Amino acid sequence: MTEDRRVRITEVGPRDGLQNESALVPVAEKIAFVDALGEAGFPEIEVTSFVSPRWVPQLADAAEVMAGITRESSITYSVLCPNQRGAEAAIASGADKLSIFTSASEGFCRKNLNASIEESIERFRPVVELARQSSLPMRGYVSCMVRCPYDGPVDPEDVLATVRLLLDLAGGDIEIALGETLGVADPDQIEAVLDEVASVVPVSGIDLHLHDTKGMALAGVDRALRCGVRSFDSSCAGLGGCPFAPGASGNLATESLLDLLEEDGWETGIDRAAVDRAAVIANRITGRG
Ligand code: HMG
Ligand code: MG
Repeated sequence: MTEDRRVRITEVGPRDGLQNESALVPVAEKIAFVDALGEAGFPEIEVTSFVSPRWVPQLADAAEVMAGITRESSITYSVLCPNQRGAEAAIASGADKLSIFTSASEGFCRKNLNASIEESIERFRPVVELARQSSLPMRGYVSCMVRCPYDGPVDPEDVLATVRLLLDLAGGDIEIALGETLGVADPDQIEAVLDEVASVVPVSGIDLHLHDTKGMALAGVDRALRCGVRSFDSSCAGLGGCPFAPGASGNLATESLLDLLEEDGWETGIDRAAVDRAAVIANRITGRG
C-alpha cells in the first residue's frame, strides 16, 4: 500500500454494536462475529468492554468472548475499561490494547460512568499504570464531540479540554478518539473540532468515531479526510449505539465507509467480501437479517 493513500479502520461492531442490543446475544455468536471480522483483515477490532455488568449486562461475558476468539497475529484486539478492575480483567483476558472513555460534556459523563469528567480521569490513573506495566497501547475516547444528549451543544474548547486531560494522564502516549456519540454532526462542526484539537494532537493521529443517526457520517468522513484524518471507526452492518445516549443510533457502517474510501482511491487492506460474510452473522444475531 502507498502510505499517503492509506486509511486505518477500527471495527467496533462487537463492542459498540452489541452493547446496545436489547436481547442477550449468546457468547458463541459473538465469537463467530469477531472471528468473521478477523478474516476481513481489520488492523484493529474492538471486541468488548470490561465494565460493570449491572450497567451493561450485554457485555457481562467479556472474558468468555476474549477467551473464545481466534486471534490473527496482525490484528489488535482492543477492549474498553473504565477503571482498575476493568483493566485487570482486560489484561488477564489477553487484550492487546486498553481503551478508556470519558466525555467533553459533564452530563453524558455522569450518565455513562457515574462520575464527573475529573473523577473519570482519576479512575483511569491505575488503568494507565497497568497498561504501562504490560506494555499495552491505549486509546482515550472523548464522547460528545459536538453535542451531548443531556447538556446540548458542546463547544470545541470543551473537547480540547478533555483531550488535554487524557494526554496529561498518559504522558502523551495515548491515541485520541473523538466520539460523535449522537450521530447528528454536520461536516463544519467536525472540522471545527478537528481544528481545535489539532493544537495538541496532529490531525493525522486523531481517530474519528462517528455515529450515523442523521445519515451525515459519510459527509463527516469526507471532510475529515480533507482535514487529514486517516483513522476511522465503523461498525459492520451499522450496528451500534450507547445505552446512555438516548436517541443515538448505530455507528457509521463499515460497508458504507469502505464504499466511500474505495471510490475515492483510499486503501484499507480490508477484504470487502469477508466483511459481507461477517454482516450476515451480525444481522442474524441482531435479528435484522
Ligand atoms: P458505579 O456504580 O459508580 O461504580 O459504576 P461501583 O464501583 O459502585 O460499581 C458498581 C458495580 O459494578 C459493583 O458491583 C462493582 O463491583 C461492579 P456490585 O457491588 O453492585 O455487585 N464493577 C465492575 N464489574 C465488572 N467490571 C468492572 C467493574 N467496575 C465496577 N470494571 C462504572 C461505575 C464505571 C463501573 C459504571 O458506570 C460502568 O461500568 N459504566 C460503563 C458504561 C459503558 O460501558 N458505556 C458504554 C461505552 S461508552 C460509549 O459507548 C461511547 C463510545 O462508543 C464513543 C462514542 O460513541 O462517543 C466509546
Ligand atoms: Mg460509540
